[in-house]
Formats: sequence, structure tokens, C-alpha cells
Amino acid sequence: MTDSAPPVTIPLLQAVLRHDLCEVDAVLRKALHSEVVLIREVAEHIIGGGGKRFRPALLLLTAQACGYRGSNHHKLAAVIEMIHTATLLHDDVVDESSLRRGHATANAMFGNAASVLVGDFLYSRSFQLMVTAENIRVFRILADATNVIAEGEVLQLLNSGNPDVDEPRYLEVIQRKTAKLFEAAAQIGAVLSNAAPPLEAALARYGMHLGTAFQLIDDVLDYTGDHFAIGKNLGDDLAEGKPTLPLIRALAVGSPNEVALIRGAIEGRRVADFQPVLGALQRTGSLDYTRRYAEQESRRAAECLATLTPSTYHETLLELCAFAVTRTF
Ligand code: IPE
Ligand code: IPE
Ligand code: MG
Ligand code: MG
Repeated sequence: MTDSAPPVTIPLLQAVLRHDLCEVDAVLRKALHSEVVLIREVAEHIIGGGGKRFRPALLLLTAQACGYRGSNHHKLAAVIEMIHTATLLHDDVVDESSLRRGHATANAMFGNAASVLVGDFLYSRSFQLMVTAENIRVFRILADATNVIAEGEVLQLLNSGNPDVDEPRYLEVIQRKTAKLFEAAAQIGAVLSNAAPPLEAALARYGMHLGTAFQLIDDVLDYTGDHFAIGKNLGDDLAEGKPTLPLIRALAVGSPNEVALIRGAIEGRRVADFQPVLGALQRTGSLDYTRRYAEQESRRAAECLATLTPSTYHETLLELCAFAVTRTF
């Protein structure tokens, strides 16, 4: 890994966590060392390629908001980012994506096999690092979270190409594949600090609602984002036939022609229909509907912070609720 400063791409995190996020990147860099050159290359490519470091920031913020005084938070924040990165490596293979963090994806550069295997390396290395924290409750949270995430990815695979997926089925997928890791990160901050059980539960709920809002907006950005800002290609979801909330909503309220267009695009994974599908999403207000849904989840997340003692960290956790729904990257 190079010695450059970590790419802290959210200004509000840079302000509060600059030092901590540098520490986390130092742990990451050390943890990614391997005698196997290809592992180093792939890991450097994806981790050094940027990223918002949103999930490790959550752990750092909740720990410090609960008054944590120990030294395991940097290590565990790195563990969270490694798990996130492993899921991205695997996800880009499954989604056949070619752009991530503004660069060619690892699967595009090194091939599917290398991406899957280095993803496995990151998962197993994250568990090696995690056990050094010697906290059985933290192990349980992370073991359960990684298992639920894997289930979410498989459920999504089963849903792809299926235009009959409804809102509850879609929400189950995104809560598992994305929000679970946000929940784990926020809860671990509380567990490390020996927070009282009601506060720990509230912070876990905060993570779940925040992660749900975050993925809903990701699904909007897949249709309307700026490809340079998000560093990913638009239309990846349609190319995979993913029935995300914008499409599910349009299928519920669209005209017969719009419904036929969207059903066909999902079933045929027809990214060539991107523009007409986008037109239908706009006419039916489905992107706005998804944004409003995300805003509701973000408000719920903010409400979960009500009993937390006021601090800069508390304020930043609140600001993340706003960022999750206003973000453009
Ligand atoms: C991408 O997550 C995967 C999703 C759950 C949407 P991020 O948007 O946090 O990706 P990076 O880490 O900043 O690149
Ligand atoms: C999130 O779903 C994937 C994970 C939780 C790993 P997406 O497939 O929408 O994520 P992006 O858009 O590729 O980052
Ligand atoms: Mg993807
Ligand atoms: Mg996406």
C-alpha cells in the first residue's frame, strides 16, 4: 500500500475524524499485507482507490459519542471496512460492474476469480484481526452480520430478473445486504464503550435505519447520479434486472405501457431500455417516492439518537442522517 493520506471524501467526517481515519487506514494497510503479490495488488487497487469510509466512521463516532477510552476502535473500524470491501469485490463480480470508485473494477482488471478469492482473503483476514480485540460480544455481532449480508446477496440474486418482487421483499434484501453492516458498526461502538443496553439497542436501530436510507439513495443514484461523482456506471441495476424501489413503485402506479416496458426491461435485463425506463420513473414520480422513503428512514435514524449525550460526535451522527439522503456520491 502507498503511504498517501486516506481519501476521506465526506468533508464533515474529515473535520471530526481526520486523525482517527488516518489511524484506521494505517491498520488496514498493515492488515492487507500478504506474501502473495496478487493479493497485495488487488487489495491496494480497491482500498487505495478511495471510498467514503462511512461505515468505519460510524463505529468511531458511536464509540466516542458513548465516551470510549480504549484503543480497539481503530482496529474494529478497519475490520468493518475490510468486510465492506470484501462485499464490494464479490458484488462487482455478481453485478458484472466495470467501474468502482472512479476506476476499473478489480474484476475488470484482474478477472472474476482473483476478485472472488481476494474477497475471501479480506473476509478471513478481517476475522483474524477481529479476534485480537478479545471481545466475544463484538465477535458475535460481526459473525451474525456477515452471515446476514451473505443471505441478502443470495436473496437479491434470486430476485433479479423478477418484476413481481414487492416492497417488503426488496426492503428485506437491502436491510440484509447493506443496512446490517451499518447496524453492526454503530452497535459495536456502543458495546466497546459498555453503553447501557437501551442505548446500545438505540444505536443499533440508528445504524439499521441509516443504512436503509443509504441504499435507497444508492438505488436512486443508479438512475440519476452523475457518473463521475458516484464513480460507478449508471444503469448497472437495470443491466442486472434488479427490481429496486424506483422500479417497484413505477410498476405499481404506471400506465399499462410503462408497466410493460419496465417488466420487459427487468426480465430481459435490458440496459438498452435505460432512457425510456428513466422517463417512466420520472413521469410516475417513482424516484421522488424512493427519496421520500429514504428521508423517512433517515428521520427514524435521527430519532434513535434522542437519548445520546450531546457532543460533537452526536452532532456528526445526526449530520450523517442528512448526508445519507442528500448525497451525490
Ligand atoms: C457502496 O457503498 C455499496 C452500497 C451499499 C451502496 P459506498 O457508497 O459506501 O461505497 P464507498 O466505500 O464509498 O466506495
Ligand atoms: C450494494 O448494492 C452491495 C453491497 C452491499 C455489497 P449495489 O450493487 O447497489 O452496490 P453498488 O451500487 O454496486 O455499489
Ligand atoms: Mg453492485
Ligand atoms: Mg448500487
